[in-house]
Amino acid sequence: MSASARVTIVEVGPRDGLQIEKTFVPTPRKIELVNALTRAGIRRMEVTSFVSPRVIPQLADAAEVMAAIERPADAFHIALVPNLKGTERALASGADSVKIVICTSERYNQRNVGMSIADSLKNCAEVLAAAKGAAKIAEVVIGLSFGCPIEGPVPEDKVIALAGRVAAMGYTEISIADSMGLANPAQVRSMMRRLLREYPQAHLSLHLHDTRGLGLANALVAWEEGIDMFDSSIAGLGGSSVVVSGATGNVATEDLVNMFHEMGVQTGINMDKLQEAGRLAQEIIGRQLPSRILASGTPAQFYRRVREEEERKAALPA
Ligand code: COA
Ligand code: ZN
Repeated sequence: MSASARVTIVEVGPRDGLQIEKTFVPTPRKIELVNALTRAGIRRMEVTSFVSPRVIPQLADAAEVMAAIERPADAFHIALVPNLKGTERALASGADSVKIVICTSERYNQRNVGMSIADSLKNCAEVLAAAKGAAKIAEVVIGLSFGCPIEGPVPEDKVIALAGRVAAMGYTEISIADSMGLANPAQVRSMMRRLLREYPQAHLSLHLHDTRGLGLANALVAWEEGIDMFDSSIAGLGGSSVVVSGATGNVATEDLVNMFHEMGVQTGINMDKLQEAGRLAQEIIGRQLPSRILASGTPAQFYRRVREEEERKAALPA
């Protein structure tokens, strides 16, 4: 497959980012952030998750958020769900799509959702059936596709096999997740090349964390292989995982979008408005977030700033 001239950015900050914040972000502020992202041109977004509020109290307001956000006709709002109960709640709230996570590691899957991989696969089938029954989309995430904090490095064959199980079930939207930021570009290239070859009917996407600074490099090689959909979080929002600490936030949306724009690859996103959303995320969280572009600006913004500084200096009396 050849590299795509246009990519889809899946914003996951409101879900993957906010789920680990220590304090509960007030519902109106979550809605404000989601709307700012929508106004920046984000058209595919994980808005929240319909999980047990005891496990993730940060997103206990999922239904209120989903009900109140702006919903342009071409926007696609995704809800993460762990089971049928979450799927029913998400669909009742008007989510366009439900997304379920299954981990490559038996022990981590048990910690994350309290069940075996076999039971998670049954859940995947139920979630898919429920979504189809409501004429909605179901997506699946293969979590810990490159490494697990408990079981260590994950063999490529294990991911290929698990993706095969969900593809055979009828899932067409399959996200490969480096949940702990352990992947390197050579692994990503090999994995995505094989997945694209073995499951041509699936629409594959990549979920990257930038824990070891390889997020953009991993995205780049996946794009070269033909992947055209990437998860990222605004300003790099996010921290450690829910269950085991040690991951940082996702690749920052501004940084990923900037890389693609600089390379002439379209995203449909307005960079100025995206940076506004990034500043809003920082204000809501109350600390500086790791996005480089938010701190340094795009190359065009950099040249403009330098020029303006020069002009200001030139205008000063000698
Ligand atoms: N939404 C809301 N409540 C839910 C729910 C859902 N999707 N699924 C189950 N519950 C409720 C049950 O109704 C039950 O409530 P009750 O005690 O009032 O009767 C309670 O949670 C326990 O149900 P049980 O089936 O025993 O679940 P559990 O306690 O073993 O938890 C999960 C299982 C999957 C619900 C929970 O582990 C979870 O939500 N995990 C999500 C983890 C996550 O999002 N990780 C990050 C993303 S990868
Ligand atoms: Zn993640």
